[in-house]
Amino acid sequence: MINVDNLSKFYGNVEAVRGISFDVEEGEIVGFLGPNGAGKSTTMKILTGYMPASSGSAHIAGFDVSQDPLNVQKNLGYLPENNPLYPEMTVSAYLDYSASIKGLSSSEKNSAIGSVIEKCGLENVRSRVIGHLSKGYRQRVGLAQALVNDPPVMLLDEPTSGLDPAQIVEIRNLIKELKGNRTIMLSTHILPEVNMVCDRVVIIHQGRLAAAGELDALADSMNEKNRTFLSVVGEEDKFSEILKGIDGVENVRLRGIKNGEVHYEVDSEKDLRANLASVVYEKSGKLTEIRKESITLEEIFVKIVSGETGSIEENVDE
Ligand SMILES: Nc1ncnc2c1ncn2[C@@H]1O[C@H](COP(=O)(O)OP(=O)(O)OP(=O)(O)O)[C@@H](O)[C@H]1O
Ligand SMILES: [Mg+2]
Repeated sequence: MINVDNLSKFYGNVEAVRGISFDVEEGEIVGFLGPNGAGKSTTMKILTGYMPASSGSAHIAGFDVSQDPLNVQKNLGYLPENNPLYPEMTVSAYLDYSASIKGLSSSEKNSAIGSVIEKCGLENVRSRVIGHLSKGYRQRVGLAQALVNDPPVMLLDEPTSGLDPAQIVEIRNLIKELKGNRTIMLSTHILPEVNMVCDRVVIIHQGRLAAAGELDALADSMNEKNRTFLSVVGEEDKFSEILKGIDGVENVRLRGIKNGEVHYEVDSEKDLRANLASVVYEKSGKLTEIRKESITLEEIFVKIVSGETGSIEENVDE
């Protein structure tokens, strides 16, 4: 539903996007990640058809963003970064205006506006002036505006940025509800949000594609080590040395002692959970937990941004 092929964008001499390609399939929610200045908003603006690419192409719902902007806009809902609204308008007047811009007829408008007001929980504020609403409600209005033409594809540029934790949860739930069979691409700097909301991620760095895929697959591909977490009943560290002696164990870290349990982290070339568990058992240790620990999205992100991964080395070319 979103197809990006070798897209580049120059602002003057600055190449903000450098030949990125990726696809988002129908019904997916994809997290679009990258540090400040990576080119996320630039890419999204090109995808909306409002700003031309310098080279390459992009399609939304099969329509070329530069050749067929009207059809692209029909199929697209866009929540821009910083959610620009008209603060002096009332919620319903603004949604009416947005629906007109998107080409809805007078008869279509009423039911469309009623439906987004309900979906976005705006019933109680429909007659209020936007400038008087809290940031969370303004964000709902932004989402309602993006949704008013019932588009199959949505691009949301940092939809939860600047909201308080309770509002973040609300907006996040709203986005999940909007999904249905819609295709959604959202950018964010809140990485746990990606775990909660997204099926897949696309990570860009310095205008280039740094990584893309399902979170688990990405974590597996970036895990050089098997990391195992173990918890053993006790008040002191009795197992660090014993675990270090096990064939294949490369490193053991004492993570802490808490509530009568000692926590260890073990690095090994392959998955040694069964061996670790039986050695603890043989030494009369009471194992309360053993689990494989995956690299977190934060760790993946930091590796990419600090240039630790192969795909990124070649990106740092200036
Ligand atoms: N209108 C513009 N004119 C010139 N340079 C621009 C313009 N907009 C963005 N840039 C530059 O292009 C690069 C990418 O910016 P972009 O806003 O796409 O990044 P981003 O990934 O959305 O960052 P953030 O996480 O901070 O929102 C940056 O170096 C930025 O300074
Ligand atoms: Mg941005």
